[in-house]
Amino acid sequence: MSLEKYIREVQDFPKEGIGFKDITPLLLNSNARNECLTILLSAVKDKKIDKVIGVESRGFFFGILLAEALNVGFIPVRKPKKLPYETISASYDLEYGSDSLEIHIDAIQKGDKVLIHDDVLATGGTAKAVCELVERLGGEIVQVNFLMELSFLNGRQKLDGKELFTALTY
Ligand code: PRP
Ligand code: MG
Repeated sequence: MSLEKYIREVQDFPKEGIGFKDITPLLLNSNARNECLTILLSAVKDKKIDKVIGVESRGFFFGILLAEALNVGFIPVRKPKKLPYETISASYDLEYGSDSLEIHIDAIQKGDKVLIHDDVLATGGTAKAVCELVERLGGEIVQVNFLMELSFLNGRQKLDGKELFTALTY
């Protein structure tokens, strides 16, 4: 099955000149979703994973599916001021300004083997901030996986030294 056909390109969203890769057709089709999950799982087959992180918002969809399939805990990394308990945060640069992400301080125990999932690797700022959160809590990053990578934005450069896996590359 070719997964590309379930990624819809929407022109000029969220602003002019951007071709937005919309994953909702993939979410809508259970065969495509399963195929995508199988591909992501095959890349962690022989790795021991204790916890899966999904990055708000679009990383939640497959993050929870991965955690369920691997039979391990799920950790939401969230946008600022959404998590109720004690958190640490890491910031990253946007085109204009910056944003940050938070994690609960008790989500990861020292030495936990963590799989990080998000839908898209673009500039890499988001994933880098999540890696920083995991490492500050003493977790070991086993892999960072994505549904797709926008390779022309060179996000990989920011994640030097991390094991990356992506189901689709543009
Ligand atoms: C998008 C996407 C990734 C991130 C990738 O999320 O879902 O999380 O951007 O970009 P980067 O590699 O340049 O950091 P966004 O912040 O738009 O929010 P959403 O997931 O809530 O839609
Ligand atoms: Mg996102």
